[in-house]
Amino acid sequence: MTVTWSEPHVGSVCLDVCCGTGDLARMLAQQVGTEGQVYGLDFSTGQLAIAQQRSLQSSHFRSIRWVEGDALQLPFNDSQFDAATMGYGLRNVTDIPRSLQELCRVLKPGGKVAILDFHRPSNSQFRTFQQWYLDHFVVPLAEGMGLRDEYAYIGPSLDRFPMGSEQVDLAYQAGFSKAVHYPIAAGMMGVLVATKGSH
Ligand SMILES: C[S@@+](CC[C@H](N)C(=O)[O-])C[C@H]1O[C@@H](n2cnc3c(N)ncnc32)[C@H](O)[C@@H]1O
Repeated sequence: MTVTWSEPHVGSVCLDVCCGTGDLARMLAQQVGTEGQVYGLDFSTGQLAIAQQRSLQSSHFRSIRWVEGDALQLPFNDSQFDAATMGYGLRNVTDIPRSLQELCRVLKPGGKVAILDFHRPSNSQFRTFQQWYLDHFVVPLAEGMGLRDEYAYIGPSLDRFPMGSEQVDLAYQAGFSKAVHYPIAAGMMGVLVATKGSH
């Protein structure tokens, strides 16, 4: 849904920010074809090395450019991209307004960014269920793999993360001309879709 809602087309130039090991970037590459170009950006050398390794699996992915860089200071020109995605990145950056401003800057007029992340449901029962699921399923499973701290932070990070309507306000403040937050999975996740104005 995130990739589709960013509206990549054959021949588009696309950016996946906070790409990690590159799942969204590879999906974008499938959409833009050989005439397009995809950039995956992350500040972790280790994540990018895995992304690069995984991209050897198919010739579709060999043209993806993996860029080490900061989401708060994107190393790209203004108005360079037709579409952008971000998966589980916005909650992790240290300055959300700045990150949204940077995304808006590098998009072409009319371009869209789709930002997927966890979300605290407004319904209190779903909220309780989400925290129970994190505490009793996700974190113990991660602990078994030696990754407790990496997953235990999700709950506190979600408490700090702006709700969907606040994300929409931040997107307008960052310069986007249209912004909609789509709750998914009973509001336990969400996708913010923001469009840069044409003028
Ligand atoms: C939870 S991972 C998500 C990775 C990938 N998008 C996915 O969905 O699997 C968050 C990623 O954001 C990256 N990240 C966090 N802050 C960043 C920043 N300021 N600039 C670039 N990358 C950043 C981390 O290195 C990490 O790879």
